[in-house]
Amino acid sequence: MIIEGRLSNLVAEEGFANFTEYLNHIFADSSGRKIVAFVNKVTTNHTYYWREPRHFEYLMQYVMPWIEQNVRDKDARIWCAASSSGEEPYNLCMCIDQYFGMKAAEWDLRILATDIDTEVLDKARRAEYSYESVKGLPPEYIKKYFKQTSSQTYQVIDRIKKQVIFREFNLMDKIQYKKPYHLISCRNVMIYFEQDTKNALVERFYDVTAQGGFLFIGHAESVSKSSRYSYVEPAIYRKIPKI
Ligand SMILES: C[S@@+](CC[C@H](N)C(=O)[O-])C[C@H]1O[C@@H](n2cnc3c(N)ncnc32)[C@H](O)[C@@H]1O
Repeated sequence: MIIEGRLSNLVAEEGFANFTEYLNHIFADSSGRKIVAFVNKVTTNHTYYWREPRHFEYLMQYVMPWIEQNVRDKDARIWCAASSSGEEPYNLCMCIDQYFGMKAAEWDLRILATDIDTEVLDKARRAEYSYESVKGLPPEYIKKYFKQTSSQTYQVIDRIKKQVIFREFNLMDKIQYKKPYHLISCRNVMIYFEQDTKNALVERFYDVTAQGGFLFIGHAESVSKSSRYSYVEPAIYRKIPKI
């Protein structure tokens, strides 16, 4: 229903009589700009800091100690796979910084953050957020990881900003990777996909997860029982043999 509403607004705004006419128009644009504008318009980007905080607690209690003990080359591979305007990957980065403290400098802790929507990626790179977006964070995080740039705006500090690399990526495409990931966080996007698409994506994630590595999904989402991932607790899965 939400998508239907957005689509009919878009068709009307652009002055087309129906959706078929509008689609013919965007596919005829060889520059690809119109299809990008279309995708940007129909995606649901809502997000905020400290959303579903259990993942951040679990990261610091279990994922980071496992990475610290097992990743010998100190290259932690973390992918936030539907990062929207950046709140989630910056939040992951802040928690990791909090976990390592002074030891952070010894590690390569860059996070790959991807999304299909180029407008939210631009916003993510600006790293400037409203009070509404950051207010759920523990106060010490706001103090430590943001510069307040006006009464209502908070900018992520450069040290954290530099550690998150934003890229455009469609989760329907083949996943290119250099080394397997220790953590893939793909929260609150699969809910929009059909079951078969979701199952296939989870298996593609599995193929690029390091042995022992983790998958986070949204709490309203689920992974099929037939998946090769092992269930750990709600919204957390792991690449370990199933028992
Ligand atoms: C609701 S936001 C989730 C943001 C964040 N992960 C969270 O949990 O707060 C969903 C994001 O998924 C992105 N998205 C939708 N379809 C996608 C696709 N096929 N490939 C990559 N990203 C997609 C949207 O652009 C949007 O930014």
